[in-house]
Formats: sequence, C-alpha cells, structure tokens
Amino acid sequence: MENEKKVMLSGIKPSGDLTLGSYLGAIKSWAERADTYDCYYFMADLHAITVRQNPADLRRRTLEQLAQYIACGLDPEKNTLFIQSHVHQHAELGWVLNCYSMFGELSRMTQFKDKSAKNAENINGGLFTYPALMAADILLYQPDYVPVGEDQKQHVELCRNIVQRFNGIYGDVFKMPEPFIPKVGARIMSLTDPASKMSKSENEDTGRVLLMDEPDVIMRQFKRAITDCDTENCVRYDPEAKPGVANLMTIYSSVTGRSFAEIEAEFAGKGYGAFKPAVGEAVVEALRPIREESRRLMKDKAYLESVYRSGAEKASYVAEKTLRKVYKKVGFLQR
Ligand code: TYM
Repeated sequence: MENEKKVMLSGIKPSGDLTLGSYLGAIKSWAERADTYDCYYFMADLHAITVRQNPADLRRRTLEQLAQYIACGLDPEKNTLFIQSHVHQHAELGWVLNCYSMFGELSRMTQFKDKSAKNAENINGGLFTYPALMAADILLYQPDYVPVGEDQKQHVELCRNIVQRFNGIYGDVFKMPEPFIPKVGARIMSLTDPASKMSKSENEDTGRVLLMDEPDVIMRQFKRAITDCDTENCVRYDPEAKPGVANLMTIYSSVTGRSFAEIEAEFAGKGYGAFKPAVGEAVVEALRPIREESRRLMKDKAYLESVYRSGAEKASYVAEKTLRKVYKKVGFLQR
C-alpha cells in the first residue's frame, strides 16, 4: 500500500525567517496533503548560501524551520523531514545536472535576474546554477508533485526540461514531476507594497508578516497595510485596480477558507477600516497554534535532532538509489 502513494517533495531556504507567504504559498498545502502522499520536505541550506549568510543565523534558522514545519502539521512519523546538506547526494546529482542545463535557459531565470540585480557585489556561480541543484533535489526522490508558490514554477519547468533532455539520451531514468501550485495564496504580496512579493529576506518595514510574529506585531502590520488610493473604500476583488485589497482578500480567503464572493458580502458597506483588522485577527488565530508549538519544540533540541537524523537516513536511502542509476547511465565506473 505504502508504495502506491504518490510522492510529493518540496523545500524552503533558511535564508530568512519564514513568512506568511511561505506558509500560504507552500507549507499549508504540504500539511493539508501529508496523510495522502509520501512526502519529503527539507531545509534548503545548500541553496541559502548563494547569498551570504551569517553562519550562526543560518544554523539557528535551519533548526527553527524544522520546528516550524512540524508545528504547521508535518508529522515526522508520516513525512520525511531533513536538512539538504545532510544528504550528500543532492550536491552530487546537482553537479551532474549542471552538465545537462544550458547556459541560455539558466540565464532566462527571473530569480537569477532579480537576485543578481539585488546582490550586484556577489553574483556567484551558485546563484546562476541554482536551478540545476533544485532539479537534483526534486529528481532524487522521483516525486509526482512539487508543491510550490508561483515564483518557483519557472524552476520546476526547467527541471522538467532537464528530465526530457536526460531521459531523451539515457531512457526513462527520471519521473516527470508536476508543479503543484495552490489556487489561492500562490503569490502573497507585501502589505506595504502590493507590487512586490512578500519576502523573508526583508525587514519589517517592507510589509511582511513572520510565522513567529506576536499578535500585536501582526495586527500593527495589517492595520497599516496599503489599501488602494481609490475613493471607493469598498472590499471588492479587483487585482488590477485594487491590488492591495486583492492581496488582503487572498490572505483572508486562504486562512478562513471563504470565497471572494463571501468576503465581499461579509464586508459590504463596512469599508477598509473594518476589513484590515479582521484580516489581521484571522491571521493571528491561524498562526497562534503554530507559534506556540514551534516555541515548545525549540526547547526540545534532542527531539529535533532525532527527527533530522532519521529524516536524513530515510532520504539518503532513496536518493542513493537514484544517484547510482544516474552514475551508471552517464558512464561512471562503479566502485
Ligand atoms: P523559497 O525559500 O524562496 O520559498 C519557499 C516556498 O515558499 C513559496 N513562497 C511564496 N508563496 C506565496 N507567496 C509568497 N510571497 C511566497 N514566498 C515564498 C515559494 O514559492 C516556495 O514554494 N528554490 C526554492 C527552494 C527549493 C525547492 C527545491 C523547492 C530548493 N530546492 C526543490 C521545491 C523543490 C526557494 O528558494 O524557495
């Protein structure tokens, strides 16, 4: 029975504290499917160092991220939770897939263009070849689905190109993975600038909400959220004309499960003054159990260590099988 389950895999870079965007765009949909799929979720620390990290912060965030995965509902008994750098096969397959990724296609990646613009003093090779490592992360586990937010779709598409190229030469080595993007919440925008994505690497003033923020901080962020400069003062879903309101509606819909029509009806005649704190409160309540459980788990380092150790063991076992197959196919002499 176990073998018949479809496989899901995804990861998050511990390059900043997790945000409401990481939660609604990714982890929430992982947790909702944790019982029906065979799931692999990891802390993408190898990816995090494409941008300079403070080593102590990186270590702290990696462990916190694991606690937060569990607190969001990923039961380590049912899901394989691990740290990317603990499974050496990622770096090894990453190298091989570098050799099957084209300069042109890597150059077209939006994230590479954005990050090179933001880190002009450190446009390193890792930043450029990042999608080949991400393809390795995925393909080692032969998943059916890769649940990600909208911004990662292009990387999953590149992974699919690599599969086509590689299988075209060597036969059916890799299963073709599908991106799995949530219908609502795939692209949560900054609360103060609805034109840019809510990002974990930015500071508080950039309108982001962290998974671990206290209720008063969350309420403050929502109360000062930008609703648009229209005179209408009416809660209506119109992402073109009212991107700030649309973003808040998306967040509210995602945490309460209500449709946009229901939300419009709920706030008919009430205006933004009532709407913004209501969204804040809904988010506070959605995040409260996650924050409390993460705090509790962070006090139990021995437990977290046992989770990431056994996760790495299980992941390595599966990853090694794929890596052996690839090494054989490309012509490496067996040890
Ligand atoms: P990362 O760490 O930037 O983001 C983690 C996940 O959160 C989603 N996300 C969002 N979704 C909606 N709105 C937002 N504002 C928002 N911000 C982040 C992202 O789409 C992503 O799903 N390269 C990946 C990590 C990675 C990975 C992988 C993912 C490494 N290897 C293999 C899947 C499979 C990344 O940087 O995600």
